[in-house]
Amino acid sequence: MDRLDKIIAEHSRYSRREAADLIRRGRVTVNGAAVRDGAAKFDPETILLTVEGIALPLRQHHTLMLNKPAGYVSATEDPREKTVLELIREEDRYPELFPAGRLDKDTTGLLLLTSDGGLCHRIISPRKEIWKTYLVTVEGRLEEADAAAVRNGIRLQSGEDLLPGELVILESAGVSRAELRIREGKFHQVKRMMASLGKPVLHLKRTAVGGLALDEMLAPGEYKALTDREIAQIFNG
Ligand code: URA
Repeated sequence: MDRLDKIIAEHSRYSRREAADLIRRGRVTVNGAAVRDGAAKFDPETILLTVEGIALPLRQHHTLMLNKPAGYVSATEDPREKTVLELIREEDRYPELFPAGRLDKDTTGLLLLTSDGGLCHRIISPRKEIWKTYLVTVEGRLEEADAAAVRNGIRLQSGEDLLPGELVILESAGVSRAELRIREGKFHQVKRMMASLGKPVLHLKRTAVGGLALDEMLAPGEYKALTDREIAQIFNG
């Protein structure tokens, strides 16, 4: 939380004194209402601020959390398929907004979109080892041996070796469910991991990226803007 006059001075060409004067004269609105107290405190990440009737951009970059529904590809454009960008309202389609990582067309759940290339790199670079959490439904009975295999690092049918992950079995029956945590993002990684265990994936949903969990208030297809605090959570998990 910061003082209103300070927020304006930090995000515009106005000095702190000019900002204080504009506020006093009722030329500043926060979330649609005039605020006349320069000492009033707000969270600059979450407010809509206008000065002399013009919105003041408070954020340089924009990062969205989307609850991706099935049927959309993780791309900005595609000649045949519907893209996740089509789920973003026109006014939120910031220049350079692109998916930070990919979920398959049939995968659901947490997908981040950002206009910040540096942030995107920090999320998807294999060297950064951000853990991704999935709820996976597979055909066949998951057993402790499968969890041990994931823990020890699976060798895919292609011969690629994977880093150790974590598989917590939630339900073991003809169709099984588990929470899977991995720290790489190889092409179709979860599907290929489970296939190598002989348990083909029936449904896949990503529930967290690093320490940032999918906001369950978001219905499939809905999204929200992330605050800096939420973005920081990605790297604390
Ligand atoms: N692994 C997959 O196989 N698919 C995804 O969409 C994400 C991870």
